[in-house]
Amino acid sequence: TLMGLYASQGNLFTQCEAEGFRRITYAPDRPDVMSRYEVTLCADKIQYPVLLSNGNLIASGDMPNDNQRHYAIWQDPHPKPSYLFAIVAGDLVANEAWINNPHVKNGQSLLQIYTRPADQLATQWALDSLKASIAWDLHTFGRYLDLERYMVVAVGDFNMGAMENKGLNIFNTAYVLAQPEMATDTDYGNIEAVIGHEYFHNWTGNRITCRDWFQLTLKEGLTVYRDQLFSADQAAGFGHAVLSEAAVSSAKAVCRINDVITLRAAQFGEDIGPMAHPIRPDSFEEISNFYTTTVYEKGAEIIRMQALLANAATPAGDGFRRGMDTYFESHDGQAVTCDDFLQAISQGSGVDLSQFKRWYEQAGTPVVTAAGVYDAIAKRYTLTLQQHNPCVGIETADLTLIKLPLHIPVLMGLLNQVGVIDSTFNGQCTDEHLLHLTQVKQIFIFEDVANEPIPSLLRQFSAPVRLQYDYSHTDLALLLSHDSDAFNRWEAIQRLYERWIFAYYENTSSATDSSVLTNLLANIVCTALMPILNDANLAAAFKATLLNVPSYNALADSVAHNLRPQALYAARESVINQLAQGLKSTLPILYEQLSNHAPYSPDSTQAGKRALRNTVLILWLRTGDKVAVQQAQGQYRRTHNMTNRIAALSGLLQHTAIGEASELLPEADDFYLRFEDNDLVIDKWFALQATLPYVPINFIQTLLAHPAFKWTTPNRMRSVVFRVCFANPVVFHSEAGYAFWLSGLEQLIVINPDVAARLARAMDSWQRYEPLLAQAMQIKIQQALKLPNLPNGVAEILNKALLNKHST
Ligand code: BES
Ligand code: ZN
Repeated sequence: TLMGLYASQGNLFTQCEAEGFRRITYAPDRPDVMSRYEVTLCADKIQYPVLLSNGNLIASGDMPNDNQRHYAIWQDPHPKPSYLFAIVAGDLVANEAWINNPHVKNGQSLLQIYTRPADQLATQWALDSLKASIAWDLHTFGRYLDLERYMVVAVGDFNMGAMENKGLNIFNTAYVLAQPEMATDTDYGNIEAVIGHEYFHNWTGNRITCRDWFQLTLKEGLTVYRDQLFSADQAAGFGHAVLSEAAVSSAKAVCRINDVITLRAAQFGEDIGPMAHPIRPDSFEEISNFYTTTVYEKGAEIIRMQALLANAATPAGDGFRRGMDTYFESHDGQAVTCDDFLQAISQGSGVDLSQFKRWYEQAGTPVVTAAGVYDAIAKRYTLTLQQHNPCVGIETADLTLIKLPLHIPVLMGLLNQVGVIDSTFNGQCTDEHLLHLTQVKQIFIFEDVANEPIPSLLRQFSAPVRLQYDYSHTDLALLLSHDSDAFNRWEAIQRLYERWIFAYYENTSSATDSSVLTNLLANIVCTALMPILNDANLAAAFKATLLNVPSYNALADSVAHNLRPQALYAARESVINQLAQGLKSTLPILYEQLSNHAPYSPDSTQAGKRALRNTVLILWLRTGDKVAVQQAQGQYRRTHNMTNRIAALSGLLQHTAIGEASELLPEADDFYLRFEDNDLVIDKWFALQATLPYVPINFIQTLLAHPAFKWTTPNRMRSVVFRVCFANPVVFHSEAGYAFWLSGLEQLIVINPDVAARLARAMDSWQRYEPLLAQAMQIKIQQALKLPNLPNGVAEILNKALLNKHST
């Protein structure tokens, strides 16, 4: 199960969060029981030359009377809950560095990244990321490293991404190993983020931990928020600081956009499905099922809103830092609750969070509806905001719990035909205002508004809500071209893409001809995009985000009933193709302009150019231009980095209609042979093929039958099974796809119940699909529930799906 103490490739590891320690020994295994640990490890010297545990190594040597065995004694000076206990034993090597650290004995700390010997060359980025995380937390939150030794160990078999065990983090190799030839820019970014995340837990999670598992978001939501800030600062050149102000703000906007993409593609769907829960759930059957995108990503949004409110409450804009300082001062060494956290933020910054607290108690994504009226004579603009929460959840039994209005911070500004304009609100004349929506319906009045404005609402996505405002297509084009808020420029094009895609989608079911609408939207989008793509002041990474149409999952989430996945997928494809046609003339030019001859670096500027160039290449391939195919083939062969190689391969694969495995491109075979010995790269090779949209299920079966496929290694298994079920809607949503899910689940429940429970969630939204599919899914869920020895965690997911109390 990869929980408790387990073996991976001959080495030994532990995973104790949440309830794994009890698999190792009897213990009061709950997070509010904090103890000091001293650990003695004895082992065969040859098989397990390295013996690690939390804290400081206080003694080691040969075992008396046994020269085949040795021992090591580790003492952790910090009391900790059992879920942070760890040991590692095996044949490992470390890439290490010393850093100055006035907070520990001798003024220095040792940082080590442990891997199998063959992987040692791929650990420098992880080590650099660890140093950057330490510097950032000290600079941003005044949090120092409280350890003489901080170890990160990479393991190939791991259920999750990584684990923050005190002083001895254990990581999935996917979030440690990187070299330009094997890892993409995205991989580099993920490694930096996950190293940061686990390091930041050292204060938000380890020094101050959770009183019980209902408080999980106390450490996870907060730490995700902290890693998001860290990644944004790193992308904006923290520690290098040579970027222009415009480059800094668009680099940060790109990070924010990616956080919101994740939130919408996964969490919004969770919040309307059978597993909807508040960020602090009030019940669960299996805690490992509640490491959810709601607890994590929505949890992070709820911290982000507190930061916005707390900063606005202090003159220097440092309210959140003050609140965090209060939190650390008052609770260091304790196991606390989300209420304690809110109390500290409120006390440190002076912000009143009494209504805000409801965000912890209510599931569901609130809908905020906006409407404006302009009075040309009074130069006054009146904005009405309303909120409601459509989630009728488990809470419906207790009517007092649902639909209480939330405290929603709405950051906004006004635009006219030329761009951003000033207005007076609450006596302040400026181009941006923070509105506090606290009632069900509220009116906000802006004075000195020169002409009829278009509102730019929810800038930076200041609250995790669905915003409804009746923008015209041209309003959106204006926001896209002229808003000062980069996030809302992206948001505007997303809305245009959605309208465009749904124009195709709806047309497939009715007789009405949608080509007038699709042509109009194509024209609006491409006309707005042309000057943006040529704007030298904008970061390439930002331009790339504008060229990416919303993901299938984000689109599916907005269809509440009778969802037709094949049609939705096809509609999205039509838009990408039409977009490519519309930009046809500029694509080869951009591709040429963006070529890079400098040595590879994962920094945000270089990575941004690669992202844009590869997006351009993929669009160019869609135009059917033979030159594009040649360019992609050339890029595949000549590049030295994985970002460009896999982008070219993926473009070529999508471009070629594949029926059978034997028809695979020569590049795909070449890729396998080139990287045969590199597990993480072979995972990518499997994943690429498992997401090809129009392959028959036999093709997927051949992947499972491949000698390199393994059910027992989560990374490899996920690269095929999870990809098909969560990232290949065309293949998944068929009788054969659902049968594939059931047989995958059947295999996994005996191997790894936690991971099986995650696979089970592929059926969560079955009720939203067209009747034939919904029925087929329902039958599969019922069959799954009859599987012998079904783990509790899997049963919890399937039962909730079947008895969905959240359907509207
Ligand atoms: N504490 C978790 C790891 C964990 C999760 C252990 C669930 C046991 C059960 C860790 O801090 C974490 O959140 N890891 C994430 C990555 C992170 C960057 C969000 C993960 O593993 O996915
Ligand atoms: Zn975490």
